[in-house]
Amino acid sequence: MAKKLYIKTYGCQMNVYDSVRMTDALAPMGYEPVETPEGADMIILNTCHIREKASEKVFSELGKLRKLKESREQQGGEMLIGVAGCVAQAEGEEIVRRAPSVDLVFGPQTYHRLPEMVSRALGDENRGGVIDTDFPVESKFDFLPEESGSQGPTAFLSVQEGCDKFCTFCVVPYTRGAEFSRPVEDIIREARTLAASGTREITLLGQNVNAYHGETSNGKTWGLGRLLLELAEIDGLERLRYTTSHPRDMEDELIQAHKAEKVMPYLHLPVQAGSDRILEMMNRKHTADDYRRVIDKLREARPDLALSGDFIVGFPGESDRDFADTIRLVTDVNYAQAYSFKYSPRPGTPAAGIADQIPEEVKSQRLAMLQELLNAQQVAFNQSCVGKTFNILFDRKGKHEGQLIGRSPFMQSVFAEAPDRLLGNSIDVRIDRALANSLAGTVVTTGIESPAAASA
Ligand code: SAH
Ligand code: SF4
Ligand code: F3S
Repeated sequence: MAKKLYIKTYGCQMNVYDSVRMTDALAPMGYEPVETPEGADMIILNTCHIREKASEKVFSELGKLRKLKESREQQGGEMLIGVAGCVAQAEGEEIVRRAPSVDLVFGPQTYHRLPEMVSRALGDENRGGVIDTDFPVESKFDFLPEESGSQGPTAFLSVQEGCDKFCTFCVVPYTRGAEFSRPVEDIIREARTLAASGTREITLLGQNVNAYHGETSNGKTWGLGRLLLELAEIDGLERLRYTTSHPRDMEDELIQAHKAEKVMPYLHLPVQAGSDRILEMMNRKHTADDYRRVIDKLREARPDLALSGDFIVGFPGESDRDFADTIRLVTDVNYAQAYSFKYSPRPGTPAAGIADQIPEEVKSQRLAMLQELLNAQQVAFNQSCVGKTFNILFDRKGKHEGQLIGRSPFMQSVFAEAPDRLLGNSIDVRIDRALANSLAGTVVTTGIESPAAASA
């Protein structure tokens, strides 16, 4: 009988992709994915360590799962609990100590060893926890089963992992390890598998995706721009995106790739702060004006480009003046949407040790001010879309019967009345209304004849 596997995913898209690949890796052992933890034979929490709140969630979730596990064991059943991802990498030993119900702890670069770890954990001599937080010399991608093509109309594809940039606030270089690019041909093969299984949009993933420099089989090295143009040649693929980028790696070849029709006119390009002093303390290695210049070049290549960003307020030592520089940069750039966070000191990172930490109330005030501005920009952008017709790739059902939801080229969620048969198709939709976080529209042409119409 099939065993039930429940994976709960926190954090970035990279974790979402990894959860898919873990599911594939465990399928040969008879594990099938389920949507709820109740009755599962194995539960994996794929965790995020980026901010304090994100990490804390893991321990509170483990508390709940322990009860589930105990009641299952009382009924004579068995349940394995695994912790994967960045908290596992950063706090492996701590997890086993604080949460004895955890059977497996494994870091982001070890997922290919999962079947073997599970067998060990099921063996009685290993009660008390199997831990694997290595950074193996081999790449997990070479050992994981081939992409199964189960992701649907939109899919993630990891092309790059890890980070060598060491921004002073960030845990990623420690949790994901050194920067690594997958070989070109592996990526193209995976993209073809996805396209053949009905995927129309692929988002290339990497912690520093635009630092991508993959080898081809004849010894050349390709950047992300070249890779995007090659993927654009694959039949069936209609849309390409990539995330997350660093301003320093926004090379001309990549900027020019934005002229390609299949490369969507949306870019997430975090800048974190608008003050050169703070950017330097963050070790971002660029100035606010460098960022402005990159944005200008991008908009020259692709005038309708919608921009997104990440911001941190209250980095140690941030003065009112520094914060005003952030506000000025946001005003200059004009974002279609963005994410903003209060600085969260992370254990082991250089910024956590800076003496001049900013009081919580100041962080909250600054965050509120920044978010007010970013929200106003988002509302204005969404409002400017009303009356326009966008090509929407319907990728899921809406809340209401007869409704489908998809993404606009600019990443907005758009919902419209549409029959289920349009799921997985790109359809022209006229935007009627802008809501806080989505757009409402009407299908203009389906591009697909209904069987009745075709035979008439
Ligand atoms: N590689 C990406 C960011 C990955 S982390 C980049 O270089 O831009 C995602 C976002 O989390 C970051 O962009 C940053 O805004 C935020 N973040 C990271 N560490 C943080 C911390 N210690 N406190 C608050 N926000 C943080
Ligand atoms: Fe973190 Fe900086 Fe690397 Fe992004 S570039 S993952 S913020 S260290
Ligand atoms: Fe979080 Fe790790 Fe991603 S810390 S943001 S899950 S790389």
